[in-house]
Amino acid sequence: MSQTGTYSLMVHGGAGALDNVKDEKTAVRYLESIRSVLEHGREILELGGSALQAAETCASLLEDDPVFNAGCGSVLNENGKVEMDAAIMDGRDLSAGAVAGVENIANPIQLARLVMSESEHVMLIGEGAMRFADHCGMERVPESYFLTPDRIAQLEEARLKHKIMLDHDSTEEDTEDQKYGTIGAIARDPQGNLAAATSTGGIVNKRMGRVGDSPIIGAGVYADNETCAVSATGYGEDFMRSVLCKTIADFISMKGMDAEAATKAGIEYFHRKLKGRGGVITIGQDGKCSSAFTTKKMIHGWIEHGAETHARF
Ligand code: GLY
Repeated sequence: MSQTGTYSLMVHGGAGALDNVKDEKTAVRYLESIRSVLEHGREILELGGSALQAAETCASLLEDDPVFNAGCGSVLNENGKVEMDAAIMDGRDLSAGAVAGVENIANPIQLARLVMSESEHVMLIGEGAMRFADHCGMERVPESYFLTPDRIAQLEEARLKHKIMLDHDSTEEDTEDQKYGTIGAIARDPQGNLAAATSTGGIVNKRMGRVGDSPIIGAGVYADNETCAVSATGYGEDFMRSVLCKTIADFISMKGMDAEAATKAGIEYFHRKLKGRGGVITIGQDGKCSSAFTTKKMIHGWIEHGAETHARF
């Protein structure tokens, strides 16, 4: 059956053991946020908005929720500062925009969108990205917007342990897989257009200047109307080395797999080659929603072909 006239939407909010989600109240808090973001996205798509608009808006809403490691909830680097990465891609024409190492910006995904639409480049970093934000009239927010007591305590703990810590690491002994925070949103509109957006604060106590997979087209984000839209969450270096989002798209175009099989095959490759840590969400050309992860859990949700909203770990 053709699904041309329907829309689909998926979001994620991090992958890992999720040791911090120990009680029912915390679990409900995460799942309610995922559901609420999906309902906003549904409204956009039902009112005729594009996949790109839906992906950008859903990613912005996740950046605005402090429980997720992106935007206002971003983790702190070794200097106690926030340095954020984000990217967005339009599957209609493979146009893309990305920013890396940006500070004092409430919604890096919106800056990435401006790089895509208002500049001749794909990626801007650091001071150059900030100057471009000023040029576009984007407001800067103070550091206090990001410096929550929880994030400061998390950095202190990482410093004491002399290690790079992943978001929401357990205070107990390190477990095999922790929570790797990133947010992502992907969409297919009723016209069959695909779009993907990914945004993150990275990892706790990371070196100043470290850039992860989220702003790297093909590694942490990818969208092409001919194949799929994908967003990744997990240990960035693993996704950069496997170029996982593009690998999944290639499995569709070159191996003739459907998006679900390609997602599964991509995650198997990620695990086999690198013991990669994390997961992906994928929407195929036909609007089918898939996900796969190597961690114990991944916070995600979806609306497939305009049907009911799902949210789960
Ligand atoms: N996946 C986000 C990061 O590693 O920065």
